[in-house]
Amino acid sequence: MKTQRQLNELLNQMTTEEKIGQLIQLNGGFFAETKAEITGPARDFGIEPEEISRVGSLLNFDDADHAISIQKRHLEEDRNRIPLLFMMDVIHGYRTLYPIPLAMGASFSPSLMEDCAHMAATEAAADGVQVTFAPMVDFVRDPRWGRVLETCGEDAFLNSVMGQAQVRGFQGDDVAAPDRLVACVKHFAGYGGAEAGRDYNTVEISERLLREYYFPAYKACIDAGVKMLMPSFNSLNGIPSTANRWLMQGVLREEWGFDGVVVSDYNAIEELVIHGVAEDEKAAARMAFGCGCHIGMMSSAYHAHLKSLLDEGAISMEALDEAVLKILSLKNELGLFDDPYHGASRERAEQVILSETHRALARKAAEECAVLLKNDGILPLSEDIGKVAVIGPFAEDEGIKGNWACHGSDEECVSPAAGIKALLGEERVIVARGCNPWFKHRTFDLFDEAIAAAKEADAVILCLGEPQDYSGESHCRVELTLPNVQVDLAKAIMAVNPNTVVLLFNGRPLTLTELDATVPAILDMWFPGTEGGAAAANLLFGRVNPSGKVTMSFPKAVGQCPIYYNHPSTGRPKQTPEDEFQVCASNYRDCGNLPLYSFGHGLSYSHFTYEALTLDTDSMTADTAITVSVTLRNDSEREGQEVVQLYLHDLVASTVRPVQSLIGFEKVKLAAGERKTVTFAITEPMLRFCDFDGKFISEAGEFTVSAGYADHLTLTRSFRLR
Ligand code: NOJ
Repeated sequence: MKTQRQLNELLNQMTTEEKIGQLIQLNGGFFAETKAEITGPARDFGIEPEEISRVGSLLNFDDADHAISIQKRHLEEDRNRIPLLFMMDVIHGYRTLYPIPLAMGASFSPSLMEDCAHMAATEAAADGVQVTFAPMVDFVRDPRWGRVLETCGEDAFLNSVMGQAQVRGFQGDDVAAPDRLVACVKHFAGYGGAEAGRDYNTVEISERLLREYYFPAYKACIDAGVKMLMPSFNSLNGIPSTANRWLMQGVLREEWGFDGVVVSDYNAIEELVIHGVAEDEKAAARMAFGCGCHIGMMSSAYHAHLKSLLDEGAISMEALDEAVLKILSLKNELGLFDDPYHGASRERAEQVILSETHRALARKAAEECAVLLKNDGILPLSEDIGKVAVIGPFAEDEGIKGNWACHGSDEECVSPAAGIKALLGEERVIVARGCNPWFKHRTFDLFDEAIAAAKEADAVILCLGEPQDYSGESHCRVELTLPNVQVDLAKAIMAVNPNTVVLLFNGRPLTLTELDATVPAILDMWFPGTEGGAAAANLLFGRVNPSGKVTMSFPKAVGQCPIYYNHPSTGRPKQTPEDEFQVCASNYRDCGNLPLYSFGHGLSYSHFTYEALTLDTDSMTADTAITVSVTLRNDSEREGQEVVQLYLHDLVASTVRPVQSLIGFEKVKLAAGERKTVTFAITEPMLRFCDFDGKFISEAGEFTVSAGYADHLTLTRSFRLR
């Protein structure tokens, strides 16, 4: 590792052009003839091949051999011998994929999240990655937005906890270790608030809401030591984040003290011109740099304009030096001046990638994330059942890896059919596609074949869902239904074999009203990753008991969106949310107010009874705490896990408060018949909210605390803050 003095000396020996080079990030394809994923508009960069040797970092490349060859050549060409930084979107695994983040949220298990992020870091680092563009902790309330799959759902608290777990898992205690990556929290800020759920769209959110719901998860990651941050594409209250001084300087640096590296999103500096807040690329470069954006991802703006901006005095050499020093320091922390490959090698990659241990963790994750949305008692299926038909587009053909799968592939994922065959034996499983996932019209041959299979079988596992490319960056939807043909298939199968359960694959909450009314059981696997089919088999046949909980409300109809559990109290609430239309109440004429499946919902093969919720005292001050004890009992014959969820409601405050807010959770395992008590401490900071001046305050008065979930709070007690 270099000392601070050596880093300063290195900086001093660099020319202005070399310094600017550190601020430029290009695609791996610029460095060699190779395939590279381009996620933004390709541009004419105006960078000469010989200038590439001055560039500071790259994103997206193939593997360890590729990374090593690029780095080697670079170090031969760069007179300062400053290693390149290698970055990639390692979002839910590298080659071994665990479920998409929305599913990981459903596990309510931060330790699992941390283990999975560590696994991803181990594989990615072995293959040459040094920085991952994760965690993505954008706060979301609109499932039409395609990127909800990258978040842990609609709750700021859960998102914060899971974001921190990812930071710990990626970075560990020492990012120089060969199994760690630098994490980059994104997209700061409010990206998930895109109007009408349309990606990149305008975001208008009051400062109060920003601070209370949208900011906490970014801040939590910063508190956990995340070393890099990415501003969002969108304009936030009129100014794109990349050039939003209030956000990037005021909130991020001055208030929160973030002193890590900031990397723009893909082409985002140039997009300031397209947004219409910069008259040209030069102005865009000045604005982004002035807001502390150190690295321009796939941008030529700094390359083309920083030098003249310096000459004109529009930016200062001190600011440039500060930016470069931050980047050099990060490279130093990664140990790149000693080992520019950060321990990557083909041998190491082959050892860890898709190893049995990693697959086992991915399988466990897929099991813990699955949510049993509905079960009329048909699940779990008996392993002694005769023949099983695995039907549907997701049975074995459609991919289940999920978007943002990095170097993982659908071919490497265990399909539901393969997982069920492995459990029951090939001879007892019939597979039929039934329909294509997206076609509006049925294909008669496929339907007929599926119906025949269903008739022949003792039980049907119907594998439905939305195709993978319906969710992801810029993959938004105005409808949240399953394609009609799949619901038709479910009806046709049910008509010949009612012993049918649905295995669902999806990157967002869907409107499942019709499906829910059609089939007796739905097990939501989300996009479960590499071991999805094996996990599904274990869950369906009861080898594993489902324990996941919904973290983003499933609307009954898309017109309910945005719909979320912690909505503010209205002055005209409906007496009973699902009652008939009530005059002059906040409701719809043609739909109830509740979602089909609420935040926190998820069934188990066990049955849990919440027996008691007690407080050790019924009043507290800013200096004291209340201990809440929740006792639950597994009154079934089967061991199972339950997520004990604790919610708070502030009865009277100077601003309207949500009807409830999650303030604590713990996932507990209970043997058959076992009783357990889980305790939570309530302290004054947990009672705070953002006032109109942007300050977090608590107010004396009455609060209630409840256990259960969203619209099904079974036990409630009240206490006072004095
Ligand atoms: C654009 C996406 O918004 C961002 O999340 C991602 O990290 C970059 N492209 C790089 O792929």
